[in-house]
Amino acid sequence: MSRLLESVARSVDCPGPLMPYLAELFAGLQSLGSSPRMVVGALRRAGIGPGDRLLDLACGKGVSAVAAARALGCRVRGVDAYPPFLAEAASRAARAGVSCEWVRADARRYRPAAFHADAAMMIGLDPFPKAVRVLRRLVRPGGVYLIDDVVAMRGRWRNCPDTTGIPTVEEANAMIARLGDIVEEARVMSANQCRRINAVINHALAASASRLKNRHPRLRPVLRGFLRGQRDAGRMLEGPIRPVLWVVRRG
Ligand SMILES: C[S@@+](CC[C@H](N)C(=O)[O-])C[C@H]1O[C@@H](n2cnc3c(N)ncnc32)[C@H](O)[C@@H]1O
Repeated sequence: MSRLLESVARSVDCPGPLMPYLAELFAGLQSLGSSPRMVVGALRRAGIGPGDRLLDLACGKGVSAVAAARALGCRVRGVDAYPPFLAEAASRAARAGVSCEWVRADARRYRPAAFHADAAMMIGLDPFPKAVRVLRRLVRPGGVYLIDDVVAMRGRWRNCPDTTGIPTVEEANAMIARLGDIVEEARVMSANQCRRINAVINHALAASASRLKNRHPRLRPVLRGFLRGQRDAGRMLEGPIRPVLWVVRRG
């Protein structure tokens, strides 16, 4: 498998033997991490509007990118490493009647020659510190970047070993402040929100896994392990770690 495809596999926790079926496995899911409604709302509050340039790194099927182009009138470029997702993004944009650019590239190394973004986002790819480094060099000073990553919860989870190495929201915010940027929003998802999203994801994945299993019985054990892994990861997000959507203004 190529380095980029390995990165795609890791980003959606897909084991190697299932990679040839990745598009099929995720067929029932439009968003692979982001909530388009939350993203559009955050961009709107940050002042992104008609004509502004929005770069979506690891855009997946382009759900949030297309929603932003449609609702805000911004000019969108989506970057992803997996061609079937980009193809879906392109047809979604066509159906929505918006014109976006879709680029197949490694989001971590992407350096567009003449595209200084007013806003850039990375949702569901790199952990917070890495995403900050990648995004802030692509956004003009005064522009905004959006990141979706997890933070460690405190309170009853204070000593939970599963949170080792994961910053709290306060620690993450302090890191941003040290760079001279300003955190305008850091919305921590509630356990209930996570539970609702997990239910939708688990249901869709189980349905595709069942279809695949019928056609390829030898995939049974690996599909079972995949579904278990997805459920366990989802459960973590209802407890000691929680997703956060950050909106940061670049200094
Ligand atoms: C968890 S999904 C999130 C997708 C999208 N942001 C969303 O919220 O629906 C991770 C995405 O990262 C993409 N990806 C993984 N590694 C990548 C890389 N090195 N460069 C570009 N895209 C990558 C995958 O193809 C996948 O679409």
